[in-house]
Amino acid sequence: MKLKKLIHTTLSGGNRIPVAVLGATGMVGQVFMWMLEKHLWFQVVTITAGSSRNGKTYGESTKWQLPVPFPESLKNLPFSTLEQVVDSPPPIVFSALPTEIAGKVEPQLAAAGVAVFSNASAMRGKGNVPILIPEVNPDDLDLIDHQEWKSGGFVVTNANCATTGLATALAPLRKFGIRDVFVSTYQSVSGAGYPGIPYMDISGNVVPFIENEEAKIRKELDAILHLDIQVFPFCVRVPVRFGHLETVWLDFKKTVSPDDIRESWAQFHCPVSLPSLPDTPILYLSDRGQPQPVLSFTGSPPGMTVFTGGLKKQGNRIGFTLLVNNIVKGAAGGSIANAELFVSKTIGESGCKVK
Ligand SMILES: NC(=O)c1ccc[n+]([C@@H]2O[C@H](COP(=O)([O-])OP(=O)(O)OC[C@H]3O[C@@H](n4cnc5c(N)ncnc54)[C@H](OP(=O)(O)O)[C@@H]3O)[C@@H](O)[C@H]2O)c1
Repeated sequence: MKLKKLIHTTLSGGNRIPVAVLGATGMVGQVFMWMLEKHLWFQVVTITAGSSRNGKTYGESTKWQLPVPFPESLKNLPFSTLEQVVDSPPPIVFSALPTEIAGKVEPQLAAAGVAVFSNASAMRGKGNVPILIPEVNPDDLDLIDHQEWKSGGFVVTNANCATTGLATALAPLRKFGIRDVFVSTYQSVSGAGYPGIPYMDISGNVVPFIENEEAKIRKELDAILHLDIQVFPFCVRVPVRFGHLETVWLDFKKTVSPDDIRESWAQFHCPVSLPSLPDTPILYLSDRGQPQPVLSFTGSPPGMTVFTGGLKKQGNRIGFTLLVNNIVKGAAGGSIANAELFVSKTIGESGCKVK
């Protein structure tokens, strides 16, 4: 059965759509398992990880790293191999694979008729593969109709984690004519995966370089916001477990006040109501010294809000700070919201249509 019809039939029959999580044991994969355990529309039926997990179950083999409960009801799921998933895939696959593996497997799945929602950078922006954030560029989902696969399958990616926070905070400010963006990131160690960075390299230290990160921010921000802006990033790894903090200076074509910015953030919302998106995607915190990474797993749903703070004006430049949960909003949660956008467009429920 073709993908869209299958989704329609499954949900209208009162059932959840079967999904796979590829790379379920990693930092991003663990967030998928936590967020999907009780999801309204999706049910995890298949998981994969590295080959050393073959023959084991999720519960006995996963070293849980998140400050939220382990998904007990998924603990007996056995690991499948990637080949088994490609041979017999569920209609929707969430990918948290290392980029080099994603670049091989994701096209195979799309060719097999699967809707792939990926965190990896391998396919971002290639061959009409959108880099999607539902509240920022929902109409880019339509690009899937122009991808190469005739099976009905497709790939949708989410942005790099630091880009996701920045693009979300800038989206409601596009009307002021953003010209230049100067951003410095303070990125947590979970951004490097698990086991990630050696303790001796990061404990009591900061590392002022993250491979490929600045180039990703420059490239992806333009593509998501549909603007031609100059971006000047610096990316730094800091000894924090979760959450990327960013300090931002913006140059505008128009004269803008901090109150204009605060009001634009407060009024911003996604044009589509989706289960995993907060009503207020951007929350300004007026306490000086906020937002801090300890807030990463707060909000409703936890980890899906972009927090901003520290608004100030110098000349015609506006400065502020932002916090994005890199593995929730900036990764798995973003992918789940993208899949929800696709499903809501597919089932066309009233109130679920993209404006
Ligand atoms: N961490 C973030 O903040 C973040 C944010 C946005 C996007 N991303 C992207 O999301 C993806 C996952 O990132 P992560 O941080 O979750 O990485 P990670 O913690 O290293 O997890 C990687 C996952 O892939 C599995 N894997 C590794 N090698 C494999 C192989 N050869 N074949 C099959 N599976 C394999 C691992 O299984 P084992 O545990 O068995 O090794 C694990 O489940 C990456 O593409 C990353 O760039 C990450």
